[in-house]
Amino acid sequence: MTTSDSPLTQDALKTLVGQAALHYVEPGSIVGVGTGSTVNKFIDALAGIKDRIRGAVSSSEASTQRLRALGIEVLDAAEVPSLPVYIDGADEIDAHGYMVKGGGAALTREKIVAALAERFVCIVDESKQVATLGRFPLPVEVIPMAAAQISRRFAQLGGTARLRLAGDQPLVTDNGQRILDVTGLAISEPLAFESQVNQWPGVVTVGVFAHQKASVCLLGTAQGVQTIA
Ligand code: 5RP
Repeated sequence: MTTSDSPLTQDALKTLVGQAALHYVEPGSIVGVGTGSTVNKFIDALAGIKDRIRGAVSSSEASTQRLRALGIEVLDAAEVPSLPVYIDGADEIDAHGYMVKGGGAALTREKIVAALAERFVCIVDESKQVATLGRFPLPVEVIPMAAAQISRRFAQLGGTARLRLAGDQPLVTDNGQRILDVTGLAISEPLAFESQVNQWPGVVTVGVFAHQKASVCLLGTAQGVQTIA
């Protein structure tokens, strides 16, 4: 498919930003790697310079598999005190660098690895830009016994929460938990919203990345890659 005003396919825009992110990889460093189809383009590009990095810390089993298949060493996040950069996609990003993430169900590990990094470089095609977060159903990782209670809390905020399925069964995350996808929210104050939902018992991670917003956004457009810092 092509995006509304771009002659390039969405896939081509993802490739462009994935390659552009190499610019932020410091020689000899360990790289924080996110999850998703855009990050897969970055991983493919990273393979081309794998001899110039020490390795990667990964945010999901899927990214770990791809990194290892391309000969990139994957280190345990628990053994890495800090990272110069974390590179990941997003489902939505606003003008402040606030994001919604978790479309690939990896949001918890994404926040953990992002928290190790000095800089979060977000790579997205222009379809992900929004004025206000909430167009994309908000992913929330939850402990299963709390799912109904948390759904009722979202209903009080005007949202509708649905358990994410994989086939006809509830999707199970890399952490053994469940995902609620919440529609009908307009998240006009992302920092306050993230803090509020984080307080609810049974919430593992809310997919609003406001306290850990993007430091830099590489935006894939018809005119090329725009850098928004
Ligand atoms: C995974 C994520 C992804 O970064 C997000 O879903 C974007 O994915 P894609 O690049 O495939 O559009 O948060 O949990």
